[in-house]
Amino acid sequence: MLSQKLQDALNKQINEEYYSSYLYTAMVAYMESLNLDGCAHWMKMQAEEEHQHAHKIFTYMVDRGGRVELQAVKAPPQEWDSPVEAFKAALEHEEFMTRNINALADLAQSEHDHATNNLMQWYVTEQVEEEANVDDILKKLEMVGGSGQGLFMIDRELMTRPAPAPLTEGGAA
Ligand code: FEO
Repeated sequence: MLSQKLQDALNKQINEEYYSSYLYTAMVAYMESLNLDGCAHWMKMQAEEEHQHAHKIFTYMVDRGGRVELQAVKAPPQEWDSPVEAFKAALEHEEFMTRNINALADLAQSEHDHATNNLMQWYVTEQVEEEANVDDILKKLEMVGGSGQGLFMIDRELMTRPAPAPLTEGGAA
């Protein structure tokens, strides 16, 4: 059985993951407004992945006899100054998510809840990848000055991002 403290923290993290999905969906709309189809596609795949992240915690809580309580998802920003600024915001957001996951892992460990800690370790690893992926794109965009032929090439490359593979629900990936 999950402690009330962990249950509350996991419910909050579900909300943060849904917000992430919402944020990336707002970025889809922004990229579409600039006719950057590849960037929009990449953001759409990311939004789907965030939905999976929310659902993985959801399923885990149900398996542990916890009660999922969905909270209102706040509205994301709608505009950024440039595609570079949007990816910068994405990286800052992922860093924020990493801090949340680390805090949840700390809480699970302090409560000696090994199963929740195990789940959080999956997210710890996932966050390394999440930050690295966004950082890689951001660096490339900055290298080309965020416009012109370089932006066109990067946009085309981002179109090739595959849909996220289905996650194993609950505990390990
Ligand atoms: Fe689920 Fe990108 O954090």
